[in-house]
Amino acid sequence: MREKLVGSEKERYVNQLFGSIAPKYDLMNSVISLGRHKGWRKLAVKETGIATGGSAIDVAAGTGDLTLELAQAAGPDGNVIGADFCEEMLVRAVEKLSKTSGVELVAANAEHLPFPENTFDCATIGFALRNVANVSSAVAEMTRVTKPGGRVISLEILGPDSWVLQPFWKLYFSGIMPRIAWIFGAKKEPYKYLPDSVARFYSREELADIFRKCGLTDIRIRNLTLGTVCIHIGTKQ
Ligand SMILES: C[S@@+](CC[C@H](N)C(=O)[O-])C[C@H]1O[C@@H](n2cnc3c(N)ncnc32)[C@H](O)[C@@H]1O
Repeated sequence: MREKLVGSEKERYVNQLFGSIAPKYDLMNSVISLGRHKGWRKLAVKETGIATGGSAIDVAAGTGDLTLELAQAAGPDGNVIGADFCEEMLVRAVEKLSKTSGVELVAANAEHLPFPENTFDCATIGFALRNVANVSSAVAEMTRVTKPGGRVISLEILGPDSWVLQPFWKLYFSGIMPRIAWIFGAKKEPYKYLPDSVARFYSREELADIFRKCGLTDIRIRNLTLGTVCIHIGTKQ
């Protein structure tokens, strides 16, 4: 059934799924990434080129980890927005960011961002393009709200490119990881959805093509941790 979900049906499914795992989301991120996710986020923020006092939107911000990294880079004079459509995830982000200045959290759909064009110095999306119903619409929206010359960044799990590594990756991600998550008290469904959603997602080249079609240029792809995770970087003309 999961494979067939599209449009608003997928949005409803994803919203409910993240609502159900929100309390354990941060813990499970550390467990299943073997502690690597913080380093990946730092690298993604570095790629935005955000300066002190700069502005950014973190789309599908979830519990706000990437938003927090952006806010720390922009400092108290910065203007950083974290946007997500899942209330339970946003509640955690509000708690996490309550002592951070220059940051605001908003309930919004990635495909309809409530901001005028050319608002932010950069836009990010972390581990979430896979989850939106229409990837091109979300990238187009991120591009629209970014100022000319600004960067649009996706941080995403794509799995290694190398055929040598792929069997080990499949063993870990589809076999071992869901069991580890279950041992740590996570529900089964979300950690079955996770490898399925990665398997069904675009290749790095296809995602780069979507970036291009949305008007982004100077596309770069940065592979992290044996290519299991990937940063796509594009610049708005
Ligand atoms: C795997 S979490 C990633 C959260 C966060 N970016 C991070 O790096 O940990 C995916 C997030 O995408 C959000 N999401 C999925 N589709 C969305 C959409 N169309 N609009 C806004 N948020 C969306 C979910 O609610 C969830 O919080």
